[in-house]
Amino acid sequence: MFFKKKETVAMVDDRLRHIAFIMDGNGRWAKKRSMPREFGHVNGAKTFKKIIRYCGDKGVKIITVYAFSTENWKRPKNEVDAIMKLLSDYIDDAVASVDENNIQLHFLGDMSIFPENIKAKIENAEKVSADKELVLNIALNYGARAEIAHACEVLIKEGKTNVSEDDVTGALYTAHCQDPDLIVRTGGDLRLSNFLLWQAAYAEFYFTDTLWPDLDEREIDKIIDDFYTRKRRYGGI
Ligand code: IPE
Ligand code: IPE
Ligand code: MG
Repeated sequence: MFFKKKETVAMVDDRLRHIAFIMDGNGRWAKKRSMPREFGHVNGAKTFKKIIRYCGDKGVKIITVYAFSTENWKRPKNEVDAIMKLLSDYIDDAVASVDENNIQLHFLGDMSIFPENIKAKIENAEKVSADKELVLNIALNYGARAEIAHACEVLIKEGKTNVSEDDVTGALYTAHCQDPDLIVRTGGDLRLSNFLLWQAAYAEFYFTDTLWPDLDEREIDKIIDDFYTRKRRYGGI
């Protein structure tokens, strides 16, 4: 029996410039395999690279990933250390191949808590990739409430007595890019977990039970196709 292959969007257009991912489910993915949670993060990092590449090839201009929240410090030290090591390795790789990968790196969050060598590494990565095309925002020690409180502090320091929505938007860690069109969360939970609360005002949402390390190109196609069935009204009719 023959089935007509369902059409998938070959390339995205301006309706889908920015996708954000809540990369959740690494721990459960490892647990299912009777492996330590760190093993899930190692495989999650592989998926992260694959998904960034695929979304970039599809014509997505901005990708934001939730890598580590302000609340994730509650986890055991060995797990936190493993995640930080993976991130540090990723930065090294991304910088070494910056001309081929064409990724413009940005880090969203409070970087002041990191040791000097890590801060320097982050600053250098942002600097050497600044002229690249595909914007990749990595939310690290990120919490949306902390981000909004920080934006208020920035505006107070600037001496603002009247604050517009544009002022707040311009003082957030995401000031360099437009709001996400689509926020995808893997791992089956239906919540934002303190991610992009301000920027998500009119985002479309997609929740999947797929655990992050299992997310693949086929499901990205499905998610993009689903996005194109949505009608965004922004309060209009
Ligand atoms: C990855 O998934 C998200 C990070 C905080 C790095 P988790 O580690 O939260 O995996 P689950 O949700 O426990 O399965
Ligand atoms: C959200 O996942 C944070 C990241 C993906 C980095 P969590 O696993 O920390 O979220 P909760 O605790 O289930 O809400
Ligand atoms: Mg989780």
